[in-house]
Amino acid sequence: MPPYSCPVRIVNVPLGNRSYRIQVGSGLLSTLGTACARLKLGRRCAIISDRNVAPRFGKAALQALSKAGFDPVLITVPAGETAKSLHTVHACYDQLASHRLERQSFLIALGGGVVGDLAGFVASTYLRGIAFVQVPTTLLAQVDSSVGGKVGVNLKAGKNLVGAFHQPKLVLCDLDTLSSLPAREFRAGLAEVIKYGIIYDAPLFQRLERDLSRMLKRDPKVLAAVIARCCEIKAEVVGQDETEAGLRAILNFGHTLGHALEAISSYGKYLHGEAISIGQVAAAALSTTTLGFPARDAERIRHLFCRAGLPTQVKLTASQQRELLRAMRLDKKVRAGEIRFVLARRIGRVVWGQRVPDASLAHALNLIANRQSPI
Ligand SMILES: NC(=O)c1ccc[n+]([C@@H]2O[C@H](COP(=O)([O-])OP(=O)(O)OC[C@H]3O[C@@H](n4cnc5c(N)ncnc54)[C@H](O)[C@@H]3O)[C@@H](O)[C@H]2O)c1
Ligand SMILES: [Zn+2]
Repeated sequence: MPPYSCPVRIVNVPLGNRSYRIQVGSGLLSTLGTACARLKLGRRCAIISDRNVAPRFGKAALQALSKAGFDPVLITVPAGETAKSLHTVHACYDQLASHRLERQSFLIALGGGVVGDLAGFVASTYLRGIAFVQVPTTLLAQVDSSVGGKVGVNLKAGKNLVGAFHQPKLVLCDLDTLSSLPAREFRAGLAEVIKYGIIYDAPLFQRLERDLSRMLKRDPKVLAAVIARCCEIKAEVVGQDETEAGLRAILNFGHTLGHALEAISSYGKYLHGEAISIGQVAAAALSTTTLGFPARDAERIRHLFCRAGLPTQVKLTASQQRELLRAMRLDKKVRAGEIRFVLARRIGRVVWGQRVPDASLAHALNLIANRQSPI
């Protein structure tokens, strides 16, 4: 794919003096240095990347920064969720200190959501906080984790239990980096993309129904438009509710069940996107029984996830169903022991903080466990 085959799209995240830009387009990695120069930060900087991403894009990132007059160092961490740990954070601090990064220095997160959350957390705490730039290289990171400022790491006791709100100074989504992303990871990212259509934007949902096969082929024109729209939606939501006092909760559509599924399968069987695909199908069913969400639209949702190659069902024994319910009650979003759901009124419009009768929940669980019953 030739660089600059489609124009760069810019999305602003409106957060007062912490506002920043998201750029979406091809060939952006080579502009990393000039883009960082505009931020008026120090010369010294560090790229944090992982063992899959650093060999592919580390050199180009280093070169772009050096050419613009920066003094970068590349820190490579292991790939995968286990790298999101305090142990890796500590190793990064040591390398930053030995490269003598100072208050004006900055970090670049080059990788998927794991690297983004980890590097963002390191940036939020090193020297009581230094600037950082996100260069997301997975679809999930481009449409979700790189935007909004939630950073953190996992503890043995659970995911994302240590963290901070620390907004990046810039997000560069280079579409070319997606070309090496494994198909399963790409599809997992699509689960978040479809989510934006359901929670906020009916025309986006229709566009995905129409253009899904072009998305799956990673057509840069469709990718650019869709990724930029997802970033716009996340920016709008975060701009109105940075710290999840209210509206930001809508981003958790399908996540109560999705997180529980990830937890009971001990974070290995399902990728996050796969778990929330099943979770969103269940949330659509719950919306039908409790809010009168049209059954026809619940079926459209299930069908779109299916076409995207994502799971919409899971085999659960009775005891696993009970375990799932228990895990849902342990979700961070639970208030006073009661599970609250984000539910849809129609495609493009959801409400949050919804209680659900036990019978509806049992019905939704049956449905994802057994495809015999039509939605
Ligand atoms: N901060 C937030 O708001 C937020 C939101 C959603 C998810 N998250 C977090 O994001 C993480 C998941 O992110 P993810 O799905 O991007 O996973 P990931 O970072 O583990 O990346 C998935 C895999 O793809 C590899 N990879 C990344 N880019 C590649 C490329 N261009 N080519 C080839 N391989 C590539 C990675 O090395 C990894 O093996 C989770 O830890 C989750 O908690 C955070
Ligand atoms: Zn998610």
